[in-house]
Amino acid sequence: MTAFNDSTSTNAPRSPELSGAAGPFVEPKSGSESALQAVQIKRHFQIGNRELGVLFGVDMDLAPGEKLGLVGASGAGKSTLLHSLGLLDRPSSGKIRIEGIDAWALSPLDRARLRNHRIGFVFQMYHLLPELSAVENVILPGMIDPAGFLGLGGRKRRRELTEKASELLHSFGLGDRLKHRPSQLSGGEKQRVSIARALILDPPILIADEPTGNLDSATGQSILDIIFAEQERRLLSLLLVTHDGNVAERCDRVLHMVDGLMQSSESVAAEDAARVALEANEA
Ligand SMILES: Nc1ncnc2c1ncn2[C@@H]1O[C@H](COP(=O)(O)OP(=O)(O)OP(=O)(O)O)[C@@H](O)[C@H]1O
Ligand SMILES: [Mg+2]
Repeated sequence: MTAFNDSTSTNAPRSPELSGAAGPFVEPKSGSESALQAVQIKRHFQIGNRELGVLFGVDMDLAPGEKLGLVGASGAGKSTLLHSLGLLDRPSSGKIRIEGIDAWALSPLDRARLRNHRIGFVFQMYHLLPELSAVENVILPGMIDPAGFLGLGGRKRRRELTEKASELLHSFGLGDRLKHRPSQLSGGEKQRVSIARALILDPPILIADEPTGNLDSATGQSILDIIFAEQERRLLSLLLVTHDGNVAERCDRVLHMVDGLMQSSESVAAEDAARVALEANEA
């Protein structure tokens, strides 16, 4: 494993201008017991005149600073749930609360700002913009944030974000890849860029959907080392979908999803986590 973290370089949060900007329009309720909560989430898709049910009333709670794993067979609905939790996809019914705030009840702008500031999202397929360099991809959440244009001025903000992104990429071992485009990066390097993008605005919540699913096991391990190191350093509330039993062992709790429902909202002891992940894989 490579030592990516330089604890002196990117301790979060840093500049109040960058980490909070003007702050989200809706301030999260302080002292909320839950970082992220799903209440009776249902999701169906309309395919022609057929309705395809995917989520059938999912309840889930992620405590502040908790490392929560989510396992389940392919097609169980894990990504669909994560997209709802990450405010990327509106559920058909139910509530998503981010630090106590009913996120889907907000205006689109307020919700966008809440998502931008409070949630980092890491995808299995990276979803980097191919025409942008590594650094440009990382600063993107800061550049599209409406707060970036309130008082700070675009150029100053871009300079500050670029400096912060460079430090973050340095700490992830990508100091000599800052100007590379995604097509010039390996899978593991792309995932490190996407983790930096997820963390650039110092969100308290990190959602990762099979972040190692496209990587060989050694590279995947180095990505997980980064994610868990950042979780510890930033006290992130982490929700991690994985098929990897070793990952589940590193979580505080593991939930098992079956056919669009949580099989049990009970916590699974850490020592049972690997077994649950394995069973989910075999299902
Ligand atoms: N936009 C969509 N339109 C129609 N069906 C969808 C859509 N998104 C997901 N589905 C269906 O929902 C089901 C659950 O998909 P989802 O991607 O959430 O599964 P998953 O648990 O993440 O699986 P995997 O482990 O393979 O990633 C699948 O049957 C899928 O075909
Ligand atoms: Mg998925």
